[in-house]
Amino acid sequence: MNELQLTGAKTELFNADLRQQLDDWIAKYPSGQSQSAVIPGLHLLQDENGGWLSKDIMDALAVYLSMPAISVYEVATFYSMYDLKPVGRHKINVCTNISCMLNGSEEIVQHLKKRLGVGFGETTEDGQYTLKEVECLGACCGAPMLQLDRDYHEHLTTDKIDKILDGIKS
Ligand code: FES
Repeated sequence: MNELQLTGAKTELFNADLRQQLDDWIAKYPSGQSQSAVIPGLHLLQDENGGWLSKDIMDALAVYLSMPAISVYEVATFYSMYDLKPVGRHKINVCTNISCMLNGSEEIVQHLKKRLGVGFGETTEDGQYTLKEVECLGACCGAPMLQLDRDYHEHLTTDKIDKILDGIKS
């Protein structure tokens, strides 16, 4: 996807298509509650910006939703689904919370770190993958699990991870 053409915090810097999509989200909430669209708005803008949110983008969204910029930052920094620095083409979110931990997430993590040659919060040299550690993703019955972009992969083994990553390569 193309990166947003943002040079400041002015909402007119959102193109017409983005404004329409934001307006569609705002319309789902009661009048005067445009700030309720902050979560889908951040998702939308992050997707349009190559998977991450810059300060300019968050500032522009705050203006668009008539809310303080600090409130947008609070949401964007609270949830692990938002990234505030450039990321790889694919995001791998590994759950290390209790069910996944008890079912072998440590082995999964070590395998991914070794195979990709990066630690948590890092992106591979070729720009393909960003590896992240996340809290419970609500798929505890499939532990250990990870999220690759939007897809969940459960009951992981090291072999299964290799197949998933080999599948992306090919
Ligand atoms: S503990 Fe990993 S998905 Fe819930």
